[in-house]
Amino acid sequence: MPKPARQHFFCSACGHEAARWFGRCPGCGAWNTAAEAPVQKSEGRGNTRAARARWSPGGATAPPAPRPLASVEIGDLHRAGTGLGELDRVLGGGIVRGSLILVGGDPGIGKSTLLLQLAMRLARDGRRVLYVSGEESEEQVRMRAARLGETPEGLLILCETDLEALLEAAAGVAPEAMVVDSIQTLARADLEGGPGTVTQVRECALALLHYAKGSGAAVFLVGHVTKDGAVAGPRVLEHMVDAVLYLEGERYQHYRVLRAAKNRFGSTHELGVFEMTDAGLVEVANPSRAFLSESARTEPGSAVVASLEGTRPLLVEVQALVSPSYYGTPQRVTSGFDPRRLAVLLAVLERRVGLRLGRHDVFVTVTGGLTLDEPGTDLGVALAAASSFRSRPVREGTLAVGEVSLSGELRRVARLEARVREAAQLGFARAGVPAAQVAEAEGHGLEIVPLTTLREAIDLLLGERAPGRPAAAGAAEPSAVPVAGSGPGR
Ligand code: TYD
Ligand code: MG
Repeated sequence: MPKPARQHFFCSACGHEAARWFGRCPGCGAWNTAAEAPVQKSEGRGNTRAARARWSPGGATAPPAPRPLASVEIGDLHRAGTGLGELDRVLGGGIVRGSLILVGGDPGIGKSTLLLQLAMRLARDGRRVLYVSGEESEEQVRMRAARLGETPEGLLILCETDLEALLEAAAGVAPEAMVVDSIQTLARADLEGGPGTVTQVRECALALLHYAKGSGAAVFLVGHVTKDGAVAGPRVLEHMVDAVLYLEGERYQHYRVLRAAKNRFGSTHELGVFEMTDAGLVEVANPSRAFLSESARTEPGSAVVASLEGTRPLLVEVQALVSPSYYGTPQRVTSGFDPRRLAVLLAVLERRVGLRLGRHDVFVTVTGGLTLDEPGTDLGVALAAASSFRSRPVREGTLAVGEVSLSGELRRVARLEARVREAAQLGFARAGVPAAQVAEAEGHGLEIVPLTTLREAIDLLLGERAPGRPAAAGAAEPSAVPVAGSGPGR
């Protein structure tokens, strides 16, 4: 028996539902996020059976019947490769039938381009694909497609912002994949509020979820990102969909990184790298090269780390600047690296290596807008800081891998062999690795420098002081702790 519709509320931040209005959300603790659930003019809410019947093809209203899971057929689109290897990697091997995938990113980053390329690829493989644009005209989309290659016959375009009209059209076409660009432009006419409001975004996404599950079509939603980096609209959108992908990158550089923030069908550690060209997004064959800047590598303060991103190691450059602090509390500013982890590394440098960093500002950045959050990159970051502090560049062509423990020792890292191989492919000369793992690193033509402590790494991997560059105050030996041993680099 359908209950009479009752007014209720939900949190626009986390989606928590409540029967009564609340000032502070009991779910996530946010203030002033209570939003009234949609007011129905005629039918039930978006997720009632009546609504589901409306959106699903055939419109069946029979009571739902459970059936053996084993009898559920796995369709053709199960894990269909998209032809874009970097996208497949992030998706976990390809597109899953009936999945709903949200693609978020800043305006102008290339979401429409990526999804149009995807649509064209799938259509070229003989799949029926519907591209729905609520932001651009048919002609604009056609012009974009012309830049991206030959427009295949099987690709259908619909410019529409009305959800019901969209779903009717989709039911007529029965596409295997559909792109909705963007979820913020869609609206259900029977709801109050215009496109882009929390209610509309939520209800439209819900209807598309039912559509995807009911029809088996893979549906891609474009979602714009707000200033604080979340997909605009309720966070509940992220709970609803099967996968959330973010397309990121510096707006005025060419590289774009696609990463999964959520993925029901695969890992969220994988990362796809593209380059924006005149003919759309091109997969970057050698992503490590993209994140290494040629010029800075022999400057003090720069080090190369091998970060494990999913199954693939990426070589990334880290830059540190250590500079005397003249105003009160020294600053520790990072981009792409956890500031708390940096604080730990600086404390280890101070106490275990004897670098007096306490009165210095320390800035750390990771090139290419990447974020390092993997222990194997510790050594490189610490080395970059020590290098800047002492004005001694890291020896040219050196990769540094290792986790730094509080005692200043180097710990083993996962998949060292893959990291060293990547460096060998890029023409690196040597790799400093935890001494315990030397055997794993050998055999790739690199000079392997076994390291037991961070102090040893600094001794062995830093080169001569750059001419005319004084070390920062406090960097000169003798330091508080005598520096034991002397490596070939000193
Ligand atoms: P777009 O896909 O429209 O971004 P979004 O949908 O995320 O807002 O990408 C727009 C930018 O990409 C725009 O600055 C033009 C650029 N671009 C290229 O450089 N090459 C191309 O082939 C295309 C189609 C776009
Ligand atoms: Mg767009």
